[in-house]
Amino acid sequence: MSGAVPSGFLALPSVDATLAREVQEGLDQVEKVLREAVAASDPMLTEAATHLLSAGGKRFRATLVLLAAHFGDPTAPDLVRAAAVVELTHVATLYHDDVMDEAELRRGEPSANQVWGNTVAILTGDYVFARASEMLADLGTEAVRLQARTFGRLVQGQILETSGPREGTDPLEHYLQVIADKTASLIASSAEFGATFGKAEPEITETITRACDALGMAFQLSDDILDVASETAESGKVPGTDLREGVLTLPMFYAQRSTDPADARLQSLLGRPLDDAETDEALRLLRAHPAMDRARESLRVWADRARAELATLPEGAPRTAFEALCDYVVERSG
Ligand code: IPE
Ligand code: IPE
Ligand code: MG
Ligand code: MG
Repeated sequence: MSGAVPSGFLALPSVDATLAREVQEGLDQVEKVLREAVAASDPMLTEAATHLLSAGGKRFRATLVLLAAHFGDPTAPDLVRAAAVVELTHVATLYHDDVMDEAELRRGEPSANQVWGNTVAILTGDYVFARASEMLADLGTEAVRLQARTFGRLVQGQILETSGPREGTDPLEHYLQVIADKTASLIASSAEFGATFGKAEPEITETITRACDALGMAFQLSDDILDVASETAESGKVPGTDLREGVLTLPMFYAQRSTDPADARLQSLLGRPLDDAETDEALRLLRAHPAMDRARESLRVWADRARAELATLPEGAPRTAFEALCDYVVERSG
């Protein structure tokens, strides 16, 4: 029996204890692989590439890979490496995302761009992605293809967010496309990797992938809500980063739609870059606005869509754990 002590989501009482221990044991192995993967011959590159791994992080995507494998054979080879690949891909995008969002804090530590500047942060993200690709090469052509497609979507999501909706496109539709591409894609692929390498039945693999696509939408919606509602101590990030950068997220769309004249000031602060005082003011106004509850309702709708997919899977500990993940994504504070 494993000596691993489940932590984070895995420690929730609704997750089967044996399953949690097994997944935690896999995560402990993933951790070692991650550290080895980012070691470089140049000490500064090693330090920059280790920075975010050491700072923390939930390892949500690696957890999904290992959990999804429980629909088949969780002892199958390559699962730990597949989990490390998705986690490294995620981390690489965080280096780049913090440059784009001019973020100062990540995982409770100064972001890489803050410590070393944009050039090093961008190159470190590239390096981490290169290391993920190298590891991926050993997992076969289909894995490389899935990862390449996912990464392409992720980049497209980030670009779409930056460029904004085209003339004549519905801004809310545009936003949903952005979060599907930039976040749900990798979360769905994580489950697909786990189920595929665990040799689950094809139908089960398809279902868990669809469920995690919806879960990924919920995950980004909750991230966007937390950007407004959460404090640094919980999120490890600076609240109001989306507001400051003029990035429109779901609660903001709802606030924009209000016809109440009392919302005019908040509306004038949305969708454009803000200074410190404006960011504080926008945060205060949006936190108190009913748009936040509407966004939370939408979050619940996406979590329910994930649950509806899960309901068609065989009953048992893995399905229950994914159902618990749906609750976790709705309720999380960091
Ligand atoms: C943050 O992801 C970026 C998003 C896609 C929302 P996580 O919330 O999983 O970040 P870490 O890995 O725990 O730091
Ligand atoms: C993150 O989007 C998406 C990717 C990293 C691809 P955000 O910019 O909303 O995420 P946080 O809030 O900085 O983690
Ligand atoms: Mg960001
Ligand atoms: Mg961003």
